[in-house]
Parts: sequence; structure tokens; C-alpha cells
Amino acid sequence: MTNLVCIGAQWGDEGKGKIVDVLSEQSDVVVRFSGGCNAGHTLVLNGEKTIMHLMPSGILWKHTSNVIGPGVLIDPKVLTEEIALCKDKGLLDNQDRLVVSPLAHLVFWHHRVRDGVQGDEDNWLGSTKRGIGPAYEDKVSRTGLRVGDLLSKDFNALRKQMKLVANDSHLPSDSELQMWRDTLAPYTKDTTSFLLNANADGKKILFEGAQGFGLDIDQGTYPFVTSSHCVSAYAAVGAGIPHTMLGETIAITKAYTTRVGTGPFPTRLNGVEDECLRHKGGEFGATTGRPRACGWLDLVQLRRARMVTGFSKLALTKLDVLSNYDVVNVCVAYVRPDGSQIVNPPATAEEYSSLTPFYVPFKNFGEVPQQINSIADLSAAAQSYIRFIEGYVGVPISIISVGPERGQELILLENTWQRS
Ligand code: IMP
Repeated sequence: MTNLVCIGAQWGDEGKGKIVDVLSEQSDVVVRFSGGCNAGHTLVLNGEKTIMHLMPSGILWKHTSNVIGPGVLIDPKVLTEEIALCKDKGLLDNQDRLVVSPLAHLVFWHHRVRDGVQGDEDNWLGSTKRGIGPAYEDKVSRTGLRVGDLLSKDFNALRKQMKLVANDSHLPSDSELQMWRDTLAPYTKDTTSFLLNANADGKKILFEGAQGFGLDIDQGTYPFVTSSHCVSAYAAVGAGIPHTMLGETIAITKAYTTRVGTGPFPTRLNGVEDECLRHKGGEFGATTGRPRACGWLDLVQLRRARMVTGFSKLALTKLDVLSNYDVVNVCVAYVRPDGSQIVNPPATAEEYSSLTPFYVPFKNFGEVPQQINSIADLSAAAQSYIRFIEGYVGVPISIISVGPERGQELILLENTWQRS
């Protein structure tokens, strides 16, 4: 099995951008298969931060082809800007570097308006206001428009379709539609054939998830979730390929937990402790800049993510942020108001919100080094934390990241992902 799916195991923001960047070095093709520009994948190269919302993170490696599959929502304005940025940086010097599915649905300004971008809607969900919910609504109710429509239909016909769900004042102009069409046309082709051919040629394909398990529309903390699937099985649907092509899944988790938006979060810290972890970890949203709520690692959530997605490896990010804490806690069960304990998440958000964490404490890790060459470079307490996570979740940790830059990670299972 040569291919690999990479997903977030928490509520998004696990550091997928960095890990996908590391794995992309060994990949030939990198595929985005879900979500839209609500995702913000942060990549740090030579100290320079680049945040991509739609462009697959593999774009930073010049040997890769990057695919945006049918399951992704494309905001043509955002993708046009990212294409221009990549061209400026010399990252998009030939057309084969990016392949966009004509079946991907489009997100327009009117979707953002419906998502409350003008501040006139009650954002009870704390959405990113990128129009994601309304655009998936249109997709499912069969009033949406896709990349293939943008490239082939008369502009008046496109606007007529948009008017079914939008005000005239929110519609794109001819010049905008023309610019988006001109930008996307050279990259648009049948991604299914592209991926099947790449697979038949023995190329290594990396499927890059967006958001995280806890935000999955079915499996997450509904209704405080995003509008698409974040589980690895969706990689096949959202990329338009047979599930048998997927290979193993690696899930990414921070060494602690964060969440943006609203919804249950049993291990959330309060007041000063929350503030302290947020500042140590730089926990502000890549897409919206919003402060992320911070808390201890939730192994109940992680174990559930493994049960549903079947991931066989974990990447642990931001271990360095837990340096010098007197005590590091990890949640191994939820406690109900009546004192009973559960190790599987409840079915409703109300019940979820009533739970408190049962913790196992770990001793001070000391200063976690910014560079590690072996697990022995970590303190005994940090090593026992890692072994405990592996034991509870039941899979090995194959990558430990101790900083945002390329190279600030230890890859423990070296031979599991090598380009041929
Ligand atoms: P939406 O996806 O913009 O509709 O937002 C729905 C929920 O998902 C909100 O709680 C968002 O904060 C959250 N969300 C969406 N995308 C991300 C992400 O990339 N990272 C973290 N949270 C996200």
C-alpha cells in the first residue's frame, strides 16, 4: 500500500499544514478532499509564514502535483489569489503542479453574507464566516454551481442561478467571473483520471484532510461542527477515487487541545491557565485570527477518532509548548454529573457540555528541546507521556514535532513513508 491519508484528530488546528509539508517531501501528489477556505494551513519555511486556505500544502515542494478534489468547496476569489501568490513565489511554474476538479462546488460572496460576514446574522456556531455552511446547503439542495459551470456557462445564466438564493447586490460582476474563469481554466481537468493514472504509475499520493474529527458533520459535536466530513473515509469520496486506493491513515494531534468557535470542550482550562497556554502556543486562528480556547489533551476524543477513522499512526505536534508545566494532565475518561464515568462520547452536545474530565497527571517535562534526534533527547516525564498516549489510543506515535519549522520534528517510523 503506497498512499496515505492525513487527518486532524481533534477540533482542527492540530498543525496539519506542517505535518503535510513534512510528508509531502516523500509524496508525488498531494490532494485536498474536503472543506473549503475555512481551513487555514500554516506553513513555515525559513522563518517565513505562509497560510494556505485552498491550495494543497504540497505546493511548497516543487516535485509534487497538487489536486483539489470534487469534495472541496472552492471560493474562486481565494483560489485566484493563492494561485497568484504561488506564481509570485515561483511555486507554480507549470500547469501540472495544480489540478482542480470541475465537479468542485463554488462559494461566492452571497454565501458569506448568508454566513453572517456582514455581522447581521447570529453566529451561534462561531463559524469562520467563509460561507461554508450556506454553500454546502446549496450543494445538497441542488441549487449550487460548480467549477465546470463557471468555465462553460453564460455569465447571465450563472447569475440567474445565484439569484435563486441571493440578492442582486451580492452577485459577482462579469469582470470578476471572467478573471476567475481565466485563472482556473488551465488547471481544471478530470481529477479522477489524473489520480488513477498517478496511482497506476506507482506515484505516492497523500490525502490532506481539513478541520478535524471533532468537527465532522456526523461524528463531531453536532451541531457545533463544520458542514463536511473530516474522517479519512471521506478522502475517497471527496477525491473521487475508490476507497481501496487510500492506504493507511495518520492522524495529527497537538500535545494538548484547542478549539475555536463554540461547542463542548470538556478539558478546557479556565482563566489564567487558558490564557497562558494560548500565549505559549500562539493559539490564534490561522483563518480568522480568533483566540483559540485551550485545554489538556483529551484521550477519550482521540481514542474515539481512532475507532471511527481507523488511523494506524499518530503525529504529535507542539510538544515544546508543554515545557516547564509543574503538572501536565491528560483526560482518560469523562465524568457525568452523577459521578459515573464514560469512555465514549455522548450523543448530544448538551450531555457533552455537562461532562467533566478525569485526569491522569504527569510530572514536569522540563524544557523540551527545539530539536530532537531521538526519543532519548526528551525527559523521562515527556517520554512517559508519549508512551501513555500510545498505550491508551493503541497506535504508535510516528512523528513528534517540537517547533513550527521544517526539521523541528522527529520521524520515528522512517521507512513507512518513502517516495520510491
Ligand atoms: P464553518 O466551517 O466556517 O461553518 O464553521 C463551523 C465550525 O467549525 C466553527 O466552530 C469553526 O470555528 C470551526 N472550524 C471550521 N474550520 C476550522 C479550522 O480549519 N480549524 C478549526 N476550526 C474550524
